[in-house]
Amino acid sequence: MIFTPVQLGASPLANRFAMAPMTRSRTDQPGDRPNALMAQYYAQRASAGLIITEGAPISPVGRGYSLTPGIYTQAQIDGWKQVTDAVHAEGGKVFIQLWHVGRRSHDSIAGEQPVSASAIKEPDQVFGPLPEGGFGMIETAVPRALSEADIAQTIADFVQAAKNAMAAGFDGVELHGAHGYLIDQFLRLDSNQRTDRYGGSQENRMRFLREVTEAVAEAIGAERTAIRLSPFVTEGYAKADPEIEELTLKVVDALAPLGLAYLHFSENISNYTEMPEAYRAQVRARYPHPIMVAGKYTLESGQAILAKGYADVVAFGQPFITNPDFVRRSREGLALTPVDYSAHATFYGGGAEGYTDYPNA
Ligand SMILES: Cc1cc2nc3c(=O)[nH]c(=O)nc-3n(C[C@H](O)[C@H](O)[C@H](O)COP(=O)(O)O)c2cc1C
Repeated sequence: MIFTPVQLGASPLANRFAMAPMTRSRTDQPGDRPNALMAQYYAQRASAGLIITEGAPISPVGRGYSLTPGIYTQAQIDGWKQVTDAVHAEGGKVFIQLWHVGRRSHDSIAGEQPVSASAIKEPDQVFGPLPEGGFGMIETAVPRALSEADIAQTIADFVQAAKNAMAAGFDGVELHGAHGYLIDQFLRLDSNQRTDRYGGSQENRMRFLREVTEAVAEAIGAERTAIRLSPFVTEGYAKADPEIEELTLKVVDALAPLGLAYLHFSENISNYTEMPEAYRAQVRARYPHPIMVAGKYTLESGQAILAKGYADVVAFGQPFITNPDFVRRSREGLALTPVDYSAHATFYGGGAEGYTDYPNA
């Protein structure tokens, strides 16, 4: 089933493999611009039914990691155009992941004090400029709480980024609502202690997610809009949120009428608990549109989850780093190049090494 076509909103996919969003930090500087090397990397992987790009900050203050590609300047839009042209020339489809990190940043990256639902910091590190020069892991700053006017501006920034993505030729956008970044910071109790209509009850904590999603869908079409969530992942938090599973089911109910291109669950990066089968069944029963899953899937486990009907597309991350032709290798039973963790340094930053130099089988 994984080799069969599927329609995700406005996009017909040749197969049900997606390449999961992966930050690789190889932009041109200054200005965090996508470049020809990135276009080559993505084009090499265009036989995936869908590529989801690395997280792309929607605004300067939305940045949390140095060297990641933005989608808020004309030079960035022009850079991304190289990527979409190259993927389309290979017959692929590509969504861009729209990213606002919220509090997971530092003034030296965001260009100002980072922002969040509330002025609360947890111990956390991000990739940024080191005092002694160069880049490395630095402790995040205490954020300031967004005012209601700031929230309206942030939603407008998401909308503008989505329009920029259309101008750059993307097939759609995936909102990063996972992994402890801004949208997730509004959802969870530990990071959202607001007393206005964006905090308190579960409905209020969902409001930012709903308003961003609805505004982006209104601007570029729901059939080109998707969102990534991670209710079973505790990334960027000291402890798990006691309400996030229940709240996420309410999010699923709220998203169902919109008819998004897909709803994406990132299951198991960092600290996580296994998504129970009963939870998958509840999501499927509530959500009539395409569902994507990601996290340590193999061809076999991916096939199994599709067969059970809990997902329509499976996203693979690390297999696509080392196997640009992962789809063909899977179809023909060819050996996979394993991820080389000793070469882990090439995950983030650097040039072609560990990036575009993995050959096809
Ligand atoms: C190098 C690297 C960078 C990643 N960057 C992102 C990102 O920008 N946005 C995101 O949502 N997930 C990101 N992830 C998580 C992946 O999308 C995926 O969920 C995770 O790697 C698990 O899938 P896998 O086991 O198939 O690799 C990243 C993962 C890796 C390995």
